[in-house]
Amino acid sequence: MYSEKVMDHFTNPRNVGEMTDAHGIGVEGNPVCGDVMKIYIKVNDDKIVDAKFQTFGCGAAIAVSSMVTEMVKGMTLEEALKITKASLAEALDGLPPQKMHCSNLGADALRKAIEDYRSKQGK
Ligand code: FES
Repeated sequence: MYSEKVMDHFTNPRNVGEMTDAHGIGVEGNPVCGDVMKIYIKVNDDKIVDAKFQTFGCGAAIAVSSMVTEMVKGMTLEEALKITKASLAEALDGLPPQKMHCSNLGADALRKAIEDYRSKQGK
């Protein structure tokens, strides 16, 4: 029921871990399942140059975290803000309907990390 891409990013997640010198941090949780996702970004000249994550959650949430941190590298902040739960699920070749909220966590945690960066810049 999971795509090969989901299984790949779940079993071999990219960009796992804490980023101690992050420019922006976003945390999002789902009160229903209790899963929590934390996304760190590093920004240079309005572009995301690095991203990492720490996720306490289900396999789909881990795959989403891995995918979103891969996708955003090299994107401008505006481009990254266009990432949605649908585009994340699509990048993973689909998620089962009951797992779509896991991709929501990824899009929301990323948006919060960008907002955090911008507020630290006084923007
Ligand atoms: Fe809640 Fe996956 S079950 S994030």
